[in-house]
Amino acid sequence: MDDCCSAAADGADRYEPVFTGRFAERIARRYAKDGLTLPEQGIVSYLADEVGIDGATVLEIGGGIGEIQIELIRRGAAASVNLELSRAYETVAARVAAEAGTAHAMSRRTGIDLALHPHAVEQADVVILHRVVCCYPDATRLLEAAAGRAKRAVVFTHPPRDLLTRFAAASGNLLMRLQRKTYRGYVHSPEAMVAVLEHRGFKAEHHQRAGSWRVVGAVHD
Ligand SMILES: C[S@@+](CC[C@H](N)C(=O)[O-])C[C@H]1O[C@@H](n2cnc3c(N)ncnc32)[C@H](O)[C@@H]1O
Repeated sequence: MDDCCSAAADGADRYEPVFTGRFAERIARRYAKDGLTLPEQGIVSYLADEVGIDGATVLEIGGGIGEIQIELIRRGAAASVNLELSRAYETVAARVAAEAGTAHAMSRRTGIDLALHPHAVEQADVVILHRVVCCYPDATRLLEAAAGRAKRAVVFTHPPRDLLTRFAAASGNLLMRLQRKTYRGYVHSPEAMVAVLEHRGFKAEHHQRAGSWRVVGAVHD
């Protein structure tokens, strides 16, 4: 098995037992009922109102069912690509995109871990990681790869690194261990994550509290 395929299998093993079809359906129901969540609204309005997305290409890493991409396309983005390590979203994502009328502009790829294969996809104007760095062990490598694929901006969300979040992550990880699942959550240092982007020539100009999440937006200097 080559590097690419073994990495894909590792990703699916780790993420699919947690990010299942039922998880995808739950997100789709919430999106149909309430629209975007607060952090998702923060991402879309930062990109649409401050960075500018008319005709832009979007790469979302770990984009789940793709609701952020749908809203960006509605606001003028030209096309989006979604990377996922769990294959369990695909049926729901296709239905949600068809219902939204944006499927023609959206494409999806599974089994590519950009941190391990940083050139596996084309560059895009903007790269998004929403609720993803906290699911990935090596946030530095993932954000370096994200920065390498972004022509204009990178936006990511992370949980605050406080006692409550660390306790929640530790409890969640204990549960995963007891259930013999290999998925783990992480509370990486926000400063270290911002430093990765700045080291790659991005200026972290946008810092927003959005519910229990923090939204960071960085543009190429
Ligand atoms: C908490 S879910 C969030 C999904 C979606 N962004 C949302 O907010 O509904 C985290 C997702 O990140 C995906 N993921 C984690 N690391 C990834 C990577 N390196 N490349 C692609 N997807 C990744 C997992 O498969 C999982 O679906």
